[in-house]
Amino acid sequence: MNIAVLAGDGIGPEIIAQAVRLLDVLKAEGFDIELEYGLIGGSAVDATGEPYPEMTHQLVSRADAVLLGAVGGPQYDVLPRPQRPERGLLAIRKALNLFANLRPAILYPELAKASSLKPDVVAGLDIMIVRELTGDIYFGKPRGIEMRDGQRVGVNTMVYNEAEIQRIAHVAFRTAQKRNRRLCSVDKMNVLECTQLWRDVVEETGKAYPDVKLSHMLVDNAAMQLVRDPKQFDVIVTGNMFGDILSDEASMLTGSIGMLPSASLDSHNKGLYEPIHGSAPDIAGKNVANPLATILSVAMMMRYTFNQEDVAQHIEEAVKKVLVQGLRTSDIASQGMHVLGTREMGDAVLSAF
Ligand code: IPM
Ligand code: MG
Repeated sequence: MNIAVLAGDGIGPEIIAQAVRLLDVLKAEGFDIELEYGLIGGSAVDATGEPYPEMTHQLVSRADAVLLGAVGGPQYDVLPRPQRPERGLLAIRKALNLFANLRPAILYPELAKASSLKPDVVAGLDIMIVRELTGDIYFGKPRGIEMRDGQRVGVNTMVYNEAEIQRIAHVAFRTAQKRNRRLCSVDKMNVLECTQLWRDVVEETGKAYPDVKLSHMLVDNAAMQLVRDPKQFDVIVTGNMFGDILSDEASMLTGSIGMLPSASLDSHNKGLYEPIHGSAPDIAGKNVANPLATILSVAMMMRYTFNQEDVAQHIEEAVKKVLVQGLRTSDIASQGMHVLGTREMGDAVLSAF
């Protein structure tokens, strides 16, 4: 298992350190794990002038999987766009062809009180959002800000071809087959032609999966249904931009963006694994960040890239045990809970493992 580790910015290094301790334990247990470290985001800009330097590209290209912390920070928002940390993230996704982004939103029963929704609305919540990650308005051309008739005009282009829709649809149908066999495809076909094609191609692709119950929903309605009755969903598949928005919304149903991992996969299950939260510069370096989303990202890595389902479950069980014990980082703590720092939470997971 050749794993490239890109800690990134803000709380990235602290949360990655706890995940690496877990990988070290697996290595000591006999797994053939090699870690190589590289730069991405603002820390890469500081060192090389670029958010996704060639050296990092070489490193991640030869790795089987990438473990990433988080990128970004206010000091970088003044840089020209191509040098911003977020561009590093978009570049690595595109360069490695990581078109399938899996974002589970699971509510741990112990954290039901942390959700802003009523416990009975979210109890038992277990949704998987499959977000297309290398197309759509994020990458479409033309793009830019230009002068037209004496005034500035901003342009972006929403574009998908059939092949791009088909391959993400296949991932989504297969994901649904392993779960409760319900797939909801989200689009805006009442207004956008691009997403009419999305709906048509998902529908056609679905003919090969008669065991999966396919439905379609407009994105505005989906945003509403996610807070009204989120448990109606099993797997959601959608494009890059709608997926960006809906996955943040879904994460908050679970009360704790600090708990949610993600996987971004290519067609050979090479993957990039990262917590879905950001770099949280306000708490960086204070040993208060929640490392569980990063630790759970290692579980996803074991499941999807290395086919080690039992190791993945073992990690997830360790996290559950820690929650059952009432141990919390401050972001998920409610009254009467024992609040731990980042490193101490890492300790707790390791001893439960
Ligand atoms: C995400 C983030 C990124 C995105 C940003 C940081 C470029 O919001 O992973 O959801 O929009 O994809
Ligand atoms: Mg986002």
